[in-house]
Parts: sequence; C-alpha cells; structure tokens
Amino acid sequence: MLNNSPGPIGVFDSGYGGLTILKEFKKQLPEYDYIYLGDNARAPYGGRSFYVVYQYTLQAVNHLFSQGCQLVVLACNTASAKALRTIQQNDLPKIDSKRRVLGVIRPSAEAVGNLTKSREVGILGTTGTVLSESYPIEIQKLFPDIKTYQQACPLWVPLVENEEYKNAGADYFFEKDIRALLSQSKNIDTIILGCTHYPLIVDAIRKFIPSNIKLISQDTIIADSLTDYLNRHPEIENKCTKNGTIKFETTDISDVFSARGEIFYGKKIESEQITL
Ligand code: DGL
Repeated sequence: MLNNSPGPIGVFDSGYGGLTILKEFKKQLPEYDYIYLGDNARAPYGGRSFYVVYQYTLQAVNHLFSQGCQLVVLACNTASAKALRTIQQNDLPKIDSKRRVLGVIRPSAEAVGNLTKSREVGILGTTGTVLSESYPIEIQKLFPDIKTYQQACPLWVPLVENEEYKNAGADYFFEKDIRALLSQSKNIDTIILGCTHYPLIVDAIRKFIPSNIKLISQDTIIADSLTDYLNRHPEIENKCTKNGTIKFETTDISDVFSARGEIFYGKKIESEQITL
C-alpha cells in the first residue's frame, strides 16, 4: 500500500544521462529532496522495443513511488517517448491518480516554438526516440506551422558513456550524423538535442553546426519547466519534501556508477545498488 505523505522528487533515466538534468534541478530548485535512479544494468534503452522500454520504465516508476516519491520526472527521452503516455493514461489511474509522472519531450517541444524563425527544426536523438516520432508529433500538436527533420545518432550515447567524446575518432560520428540532418533542409535554424546525454557534448558537436543554428540543450529547459510546473501545481508542490537531500540509486555496480556519474553530475556522488 502506497503512503500518501510528502516525499522526494524522483528522477529516472536509463543510465547516467538524467544526471545532467538533475544537476540543473539542484541548481534551480536546491531546497527539494531528490532520488535519482539509473537503470544502468539494462541501459542503453535507445535500441529497445516499445514494450520493453515501457516495462522497464514502469518498474522504475513503481520503485520510486514505493520510496515515497509523489512526482517522478522521466529524465530520459527514450523512456518519455516510449512509456510516458501509457503510464500516465493506463497505469497511474490504477496505481494512484494523485501522483504525477512527467517527461522531457513536451517541455523541449514547447521551447522550440519561440526559438525558430525559419519554422524548420532538426532533432537529434537515439534510434528509439527518432523512430517513435514523438518530437514531430508533439511539435505538430503545439506548432502546426513548424516542419521537423530527424536524425538518429546511435553511437553518441556509447561515445559519451565511454568518455570518448573529446577524441578525434568521435568527431567522425558527430560530423556524419549532423551532416545527415542538415542535408535534409537548408532552412533548419534550430536543433533539439533530444537526449539527456547530449548536454555533455555541446562543445564537441558545435564545430560541425553553423553558428546561426541554435542548439536546444535539455538540462536548463527541463529545469525551467519543472520550476514552472511546481509554481502552477501547489497541490503537487506541497507533496515534495524540502531538506535539500539527494539519494543516488543504480541497478548496476554502485562504485562504477559513482565514478562515472561524477562526469555527468559534475560533483562527487555516492550511490547504492538496488534491484527492480
Ligand atoms: N538518456 C537517454 C535518452 O535521453 C539515452 C540513453 C539510452 O539510450 O538509454 O534518450
């Protein structure tokens, strides 16, 4: 039986990428308590089927709920693309209709509307995110006049996770995928970096993108959106505890998570291994 008392904000990602989002939450909203969960044992999610990503994400959300979270943010584009809607529509009413699960795709789609002048937008993400068509669908709903172009970048997450993204070999893959995106239209003036790993590679990829093209990196966008959400929803805000603590959990080896996680979070972290 789930407890209704206030609890920490849950932040979920398939692995490390969501730490870039959590870092920005902590900067903008330092007073709240957070539990971060990385499903490192089963990451990456990018190439997995809808059903598998949905099942894994639901297990993670249930785990965070059982830890007292009333609000969970899926800080992962792949999970947001493939699992969020089903969890919101089918699972939450059965689990507890007062709890909330938010994703990262809608806030990123909202941000694009004010930034593009040409009304042509590019999206870079994992294969799963791109194939789900979640960005084109969400952008179309909000801004029917915007044209979207997508490119999957299947090797970028492994390059980041293996700390190879600053090396010359990585440039080959960055340039190749960016070229493939930009060759689809000369009028793209804004690109969404649709993966929570990508805030780390903004400098590495910027050199392949003309300077007149704006890059939307999700760390600040999602934190702005959470701040706005908490202001607009006092009934949820009241259910978030505020002692400034963070707990890090991983489904894989905690020493490895703590060491690698530092690259994404920018500070030393200590984590605990859990099973889902
Ligand atoms: N962090 C995930 C995302 O934003 C990518 C990693 C993965 O493929 O699991 O899509």
